[in-house]
Amino acid sequence: MDKKNSVFIATSLDGYIADKNGGIDWLHSVSNPNSDDIGYLEFINNIEALVMGRTTFETVCGFDVDWPYNKPVFVLSNMLREVPESHKEKAFLVKGTLTEILRQIHEKGFYRLYIDGGTTIRNFLKEDLIDEMTITTIPILLGGGTSLFGDLPQELKFELIGSKTYLNQITQNHYKRVR
Ligand SMILES: NC(=O)c1ccc[n+]([C@@H]2O[C@H](COP(=O)([O-])OP(=O)(O)OC[C@H]3O[C@@H](n4cnc5c(N)ncnc54)[C@H](OP(=O)(O)O)[C@@H]3O)[C@@H](O)[C@H]2O)c1
Repeated sequence: MDKKNSVFIATSLDGYIADKNGGIDWLHSVSNPNSDDIGYLEFINNIEALVMGRTTFETVCGFDVDWPYNKPVFVLSNMLREVPESHKEKAFLVKGTLTEILRQIHEKGFYRLYIDGGTTIRNFLKEDLIDEMTITTIPILLGGGTSLFGDLPQELKFELIGSKTYLNQITQNHYKRVR
């Protein structure tokens, strides 16, 4: 089975994934009367498990909706001792280097992974462990917040393998790492 680490994330025009207060309400700033999923279902149907940072995990836990994932979620945290009782069957703490973490997840039989969370994505990129990125751009300038990208020890070349427009406002580009 091919191993693949994929990112699927929305950013502001100025490249932020959360605003100055850590908020993500701006993700819904484009009118979406028919609740278009903006490519999310097709993406999520093709992955086997999620790997997310503790901040993103806590953000999702705080949403006023049922748990949105029907696949295992591996949560990266050095701080958490255990996941909340309510999420014990759905989310699993993982620790260690990214290579160790990936080995543990692959040994459990999950190969196509959704990598989520700002720090987490940047850490994966620093070690050149991201194979594909789908980046959805919301037409808003936030002026500050949590950046998606950061410093890298080396350039990483990607090729564009698809590009779509949603709701006449949102662009979505799908990039593949050129190795
Ligand atoms: N725009 C979007 O589509 C989108 C998508 C996802 C998230 N978000 C937002 O973006 C923000 C993400 O926050 P964030 O940048 O703090 O990133 P994050 O990756 O969600 O969480 C960072 C935390 O993950 C843990 N972590 C990361 N790498 C680790 C490793 N190798 N080993 C152990 N623990 C590791 C650490 O937790 P400990 O401190 O516990 O050790 C770290 O503080 C949130 O506000 C979220 O709501 C937006």
